[in-house]
Amino acid sequence: MSKVTVLGGGGWAIALAKVLFENGKDVVIWSALEREVEELKSTRENKISLPGVIIPEKIEITNDLEVAVKDAEIIVMAVASSFVRLTSKRLKGIIPDGQIIVDVAKGIEDDTFYTMTDIIEDELPTADAAVLSGPSHAEEVGRKIPTVVVIGAKKKTTALKIQETFANNYFRTYISPDRKSIELGGSLKNVIALAAGIIDGLGFGDNTEAALITRGIKEITALGVKMGGHSRTFNGLSGIGDLIVTCNSKHSRNRRAGVLIGKGYTLDEAVKEVNMVVEGAVSAKAALHLAKKYEVNMPIVEKVNEVLFDNEPAEKAMWELMSREQTSEYSDLEW
Ligand SMILES: NC(=O)c1ccc[n+]([C@@H]2O[C@H](COP(=O)([O-])OP(=O)(O)OC[C@H]3O[C@@H](n4cnc5c(N)ncnc54)[C@H](O)[C@@H]3O)[C@@H](O)[C@H]2O)c1
Repeated sequence: MSKVTVLGGGGWAIALAKVLFENGKDVVIWSALEREVEELKSTRENKISLPGVIIPEKIEITNDLEVAVKDAEIIVMAVASSFVRLTSKRLKGIIPDGQIIVDVAKGIEDDTFYTMTDIIEDELPTADAAVLSGPSHAEEVGRKIPTVVVIGAKKKTTALKIQETFANNYFRTYISPDRKSIELGGSLKNVIALAAGIIDGLGFGDNTEAALITRGIKEITALGVKMGGHSRTFNGLSGIGDLIVTCNSKHSRNRRAGVLIGKGYTLDEAVKEVNMVVEGAVSAKAALHLAKKYEVNMPIVEKVNEVLFDNEPAEKAMWELMSREQTSEYSDLEW
């Protein structure tokens, strides 16, 4: 039986561990947090992040990283994105060259502007880093609700191996060589999800939200293409697919934080209330930096930054977005 090790003990780690276990893999869950390990071992569930989803008894849970990753065919990086670097550092010297590491955390590092596989490769240059992303809430995967994701890897053989490992009748997977765009879509959508929440919190309507999603993916695509990605990937599962689910779903923590900000909370107050990492706030800063660096016009990203970090009232920011100069939808289309 091939062994797969899942790093992290949050909702996504557990939902994916269950998928892998149901696919007949020998699954180990590792967490750096001793309290989390004890809690998961004694209750077989994460009562806060994924209540009601029971971790099968045969899944080993440990906080010994060396034991956890020994002989693992695949390692799944499912810690919060702010801990991907630290966790990668800890893997140094205890994994073999060519180790497949599938990142499922979404985010852009705030000082380097690296994606998660960039970080993994920075710390572990010989690792074979891949990504799995798409419209996939742990709450639904944990209940076997049909879900479809995309796997991005540098080598097709790696992508196929990951596909064979994860795929089943409720968890469908596609493969792609466009790892970079998959990661950018997955992290930048959180910025737009914050904006969707803000719109809701302000009491605006479905028209506004649909416009935000449409113009949001256009901003993300423009940046992604300038950074070397393929525009079609942003129209796929990890782009528009993930953006739709995140902007519309009650499960999205970024959206929930946005709703509170729309109602007048500060970012800190909203994060405290949501009581989870709001990765969109970090990604918002990164997106603004990248927009400047690559000279891409990203008005929604700019306004989200002003609201989050410059005390700009959300309603004022919204009306300013609406009152920009009227222009063409696609400036390159000829009459
Ligand atoms: N929850 C979902 O539905 C979902 C779906 C797709 C992707 N993701 C992504 O997966 C990642 C994990 O999300 P999540 O919802 O499981 O929980 P999360 O983002 O709250 O991550 C929490 C986990 O990170 C780990 N962690 C916390 N502090 C740590 C430390 N100091 N060192 C090492 N590890 C530490 C812990 O195991 C903890 O359970 C995130 O990047 C998220 O964007 C989540």
